[in-house]
Amino acid sequence: MDLGIKGKVAIVTGSGQGIGKETALALAAEGVHVCVNDVNDEVGLQTAKEVEDLGVKAIYVRADVGSEQDIKDMFQKTAQELGTVDILINNAAISPKVPFEDIPAEQFEQVMKINLLGSFLCSQQAFYQMKEKRWGRIVNLSSMAGRFGANKAGVHYSATKAGIIGMTLSLAKKMGPYNITVNCVAPGRINTALTQVLPKEVQDQIRSQIPLNRFGEPSECASVITFLASEKAGYVSGACVDILGGYIA
Ligand SMILES: NC(=O)c1ccc[n+]([C@@H]2O[C@H](COP(=O)([O-])OP(=O)(O)OC[C@H]3O[C@@H](n4cnc5c(N)ncnc54)[C@H](O)[C@@H]3O)[C@@H](O)[C@H]2O)c1
Repeated sequence: MDLGIKGKVAIVTGSGQGIGKETALALAAEGVHVCVNDVNDEVGLQTAKEVEDLGVKAIYVRADVGSEQDIKDMFQKTAQELGTVDILINNAAISPKVPFEDIPAEQFEQVMKINLLGSFLCSQQAFYQMKEKRWGRIVNLSSMAGRFGANKAGVHYSATKAGIIGMTLSLAKKMGPYNITVNCVAPGRINTALTQVLPKEVQDQIRSQIPLNRFGEPSECASVITFLASEKAGYVSGACVDILGGYIA
């Protein structure tokens, strides 16, 4: 199926590895030019190279989504080198695995800044550009921890991922009149660096509770995100799509 987004321009935050990387590649496979963003230059440059190998334009921009200035510079550089943004994937996040009792206020603020404020500020920059074109797609990364509370993740992480859902609903209302859709996805256990830090016995115990009896793959998130970012999902806005392997059922 042609998703109808060939030639569009996307920014995928935190796309050096994991779900973000697979999403950058899935968008590129649809003919989308991609700004690969990360704070880890090695993986970011590698993703940009792999995106380019798919025959589209790619740039790598080192930017910390916890910094408003970095975000502004990234949108400006993308506009100069690829064109103004059509698709924004707010993917970058951190997830310190610290017990509730031990989370210092500074760490709570840092997680809020990167996971939630970063997504807000990127969405703001995207809005300035998308509203002129009367076309845009924003997909935010929530989590099962935001939908149902954290089991292994931190309370601060869970709070940001719940915040992402509320922000998605509000932005869908705000941006709808400009033909911009805003959605989020809520992955469960996905095979990435975020989950691989858990001890094997914890991973086995979690797996036994998932009806599909396995963790998801980053590419299985990327395909859902890419659909939501496409022309074909033009009437989907304000949705939160679970990617949980049947866990809730
Ligand atoms: N892996 C899972 O099981 C899972 C489950 C639910 C939700 N999610 C969400 O999916 C998204 C991607 O998760 P992942 O597992 O692929 O993560 P990951 O840790 O594998 O990759 C995240 C990337 O973001 C980058 N990054 C971190 N801080 C950044 C910053 N301040 N600015 C820019 N880039 C930054 C990292 O360098 C890394 O390359 C996150 O929003 C996460 O909360 C993941």
